[in-house]
Amino acid sequence: MTNAVSAARMLVSDVVGDNTPWMSALHHRITTPAAIGAGLGENAAVAWWFARGWARALTNPLLPGEEPVDGTGVVGSDGFRPVARSTVNGETCSLSAVCPHLGGVVSWNDQELSWDCPLHGSRFTAAGGVIEGPAKRGLTPRAS
Ligand code: FES
Repeated sequence: MTNAVSAARMLVSDVVGDNTPWMSALHHRITTPAAIGAGLGENAAVAWWFARGWARALTNPLLPGEEPVDGTGVVGSDGFRPVARSTVNGETCSLSAVCPHLGGVVSWNDQELSWDCPLHGSRFTAAGGVIEGPAKRGLTPRAS
């Protein structure tokens, strides 16, 4: 929100030739090595969660028909595809565990009974519907 206002003020300043002192400070902002380092660190963390999710899923084969205890969910694989399987109120759902946003592997949230993506925070119902984005569509159903 503040960046939009700042950008608008800078554009107006450029168009009308406003020489407000604080405006020149915004125009000359330099990205510091610390900011670059912080950005690289955040991207490295996302890459780590991505690799961790896929490795955990692919090294945990799920058996066909295996049902988690009511109120729980497990992530595993049915070969080379990550699968998210949960049981809520006696109903077991098997879904693709791959987040449709950018391919992270979701994990089960015991408190909310939801599938959450650790990469950018998308959340899905136990049946795969989108609760909140950035993902625009839900998790794809899979055969149990
Ligand atoms: S990859 Fe899941 S929210 Fe971005």
